[in-house]
Amino acid sequence: MSAVLLHLESVGVHFGALKAVDQVSFDLHQGERVAILGPNGAGKTTLFNAITGMNLATQGEIYFANKSITKASPNYRAQLGIARTFQITNLFFGLSVEDNLLLAIRGLQKSKFSFWRSNQPISVEESIIQSALTRCRLNQQRKILVKDISYGEQRQLELAMSLTSSPKVLLLDEPAAGLSPAERVVMAEVIQDLPQDLAMILIEHDIELALGLVDRVICMYQGSILVEGKPDEIRGNQQVQEIYLGKPRHARSH
Ligand SMILES: Nc1ncnc2c1ncn2[C@@H]1O[C@H](COP(=O)(O)OP(=O)(O)OP(=O)(O)O)[C@@H](O)[C@H]1O
Ligand SMILES: [Mg+2]
Repeated sequence: MSAVLLHLESVGVHFGALKAVDQVSFDLHQGERVAILGPNGAGKTTLFNAITGMNLATQGEIYFANKSITKASPNYRAQLGIARTFQITNLFFGLSVEDNLLLAIRGLQKSKFSFWRSNQPISVEESIIQSALTRCRLNQQRKILVKDISYGEQRQLELAMSLTSSPKVLLLDEPAAGLSPAERVVMAEVIQDLPQDLAMILIEHDIELALGLVDRVICMYQGSILVEGKPDEIRGNQQVQEIYLGKPRHARSH
């Protein structure tokens, strides 16, 4: 099996008495694709925050390529190759698709000054933009303002922006939330066609969509891992059925 990229050891994120994430351990190998399922409030986004550094783990250790990153800054983790998309759309709506990509690229550079030099991509930026647009099926939308493209295309753009850093691990937080059935199909294809060597963790409430895209599934409940297995094992799993179907789902808050 390929190298372990991400290693979580008894990770906890506690907010006072609330154990939003509790004793979570797993490995993610290079190129591996994992789904995290779980009801609202299970701790999925908080776990992503602990991996990217937006919230620090209050317990346990997180390793990236055998180095502890438990307390590293979000910037440092991004430079190592950890990228994410957000559950809530996070774009500059008054700028074009191309300019959003350019900002994503330049935001990573040490000198923020470079942004003011020109709003034309230089050749290395141009090739990154081209490849992100093609991968995320946005070539036609390149010059259009983000507020004028569809919601599905906005979510594709967020994915495209996260790819501009050539990450090794990509964390996708509900990329298909709020999409129409047709937009979901496009998003699933885009995710399916991501580079083979890119490891991915996908949070998704649409179980069938998620199971079709991953090698392994982790099901979280109340901060902890309840069940882990291959998609086929999860499909027939009684506990998973119960937490999704046994109780009525409350209206989503987002
Ligand atoms: N900064 C915070 N301070 C206090 N509590 C928080 C904070 N962030 C999250 N929580 C709580 O932690 C728990 C887990 O939240 P989280 O957003 O990780 O759930 P989730 O699995 O992503 O849910 P959803 O499917 O609704 O997105 C919830 O009870 C939430 O209210
Ligand atoms: Mg969430």
